[in-house]
Amino acid sequence: MVRVTVPVPGRPYDVTIGAGLLRDLGEHLPDLPGATTAFVISDRTVADLHHATVARAIEDRGLASVLLLVPEGEEAKSLQAYESLLRQLAGREAHRDDTVLALGGGAVGDLAGFVASTYMRGVPFIQVPTTLTAQVDAAIGGKTAVNLPEGKNLVGTFTQPVAVVSDVEALATLDERDFRSGLAEVAKYALTLDPDLLAMLERDPGPVVRRDAAVLEGVIARCVAAKARIVAADERDASARLVLNYGHTLGHALERLDSFRGRTHGEAVAHGMVFAAALAESRGLAPGLRARTERLLGSLGIAPDGDLPPVDEVLLCVRLDKKYRDGVRWVLLEDAGRPVVVDDVSDREVAAALHEMGAPA
Ligand SMILES: NC(=O)c1ccc[n+]([C@@H]2O[C@H](COP(=O)([O-])OP(=O)(O)OC[C@H]3O[C@@H](n4cnc5c(N)ncnc54)[C@H](O)[C@@H]3O)[C@@H](O)[C@H]2O)c1
Ligand SMILES: [Zn+2]
Repeated sequence: MVRVTVPVPGRPYDVTIGAGLLRDLGEHLPDLPGATTAFVISDRTVADLHHATVARAIEDRGLASVLLLVPEGEEAKSLQAYESLLRQLAGREAHRDDTVLALGGGAVGDLAGFVASTYMRGVPFIQVPTTLTAQVDAAIGGKTAVNLPEGKNLVGTFTQPVAVVSDVEALATLDERDFRSGLAEVAKYALTLDPDLLAMLERDPGPVVRRDAAVLEGVIARCVAAKARIVAADERDASARLVLNYGHTLGHALERLDSFRGRTHGEAVAHGMVFAAALAESRGLAPGLRARTERLLGSLGIAPDGDLPPVDEVLLCVRLDKKYRDGVRWVLLEDAGRPVVVDDVSDREVAAALHEMGAPA
């Protein structure tokens, strides 16, 4: 078991990572003074797998446990689901000392966090992430969100949880594509912020790909520690947090452009990281980074398929990215572990790198 503290000024919290933690969840929860009930927000799939265990642990702590189900995946992140949860809390007379506990992937966590941060102006919020993406990324850092028909994550808050408990054994039942999508974020941390993790993955990716619990525990802890360093320095979205967006500027554009292809977020980000490496190399930075990135992603089972939309469409979409501010800011690497943010990349350079990756004109 590993514990990482996210040292957000004024409200630090612990992330506990280990195998079998759901069974002993009660021991890893913080004090919840005045709480009588934990409202567990989850979806059908995750609830069928884990709710009984979690409810028992909560009851062992002397709290009542109430399950509130939401739709699966992105469907959960709607204003309708949000309103429905608020009304269920009010209908059950949830009070401000009660706690909301998110049990599920990033979608459940984003929605539950938004509910917890706004119901009665905020109640304590606990994250129990069950996907790799949520354990290394979504559950850490305090961003909550729901979607509008006009776009993803357009409504939300910055609200830190009081605790995060990540059971690596829960990852065993994750669909292969969802797991590999999470590995793209792991690769992102390794390439941008953690050279030791990169070396470890390059030496022997096998145990990670096979979901060896002991190895995953260490890998997830390193990713959480990397994100914690960034988030503590800069809780809100500003320059330091941009590094976490490595591979995401192109990744988001691809997700928007080819939703019909059904590429996962991680698959889109994998393309984005290879692209960022190509762009860096074209500027004389990080020689060999593109091949190294492709090798790493290939060994993790998330090598980009090279199927890219036309260059003009990508350029248009990139300019619409929410990180756009007087020009697109790209996160590039001077070398592995040395991220830089650059704002002087021309459309021509982007187009050339896209062509090089096989994008049609
Ligand atoms: N707040 C943040 O900082 C942040 C960061 C990254 C991503 N996100 C958000 O997270 C969401 C993506 O999260 P995700 O990748 O975890 O996917 P997800 O939450 O959509 O879950 C994917 C699927 O996995 C299933 N699932 C979850 N845990 C399982 C388990 N242990 N075994 C079997 N199936 C399981 C779920 O039922 C769901 O069908 C997006 O909405 C994204 O915007 C937020
Ligand atoms: Zn991401």
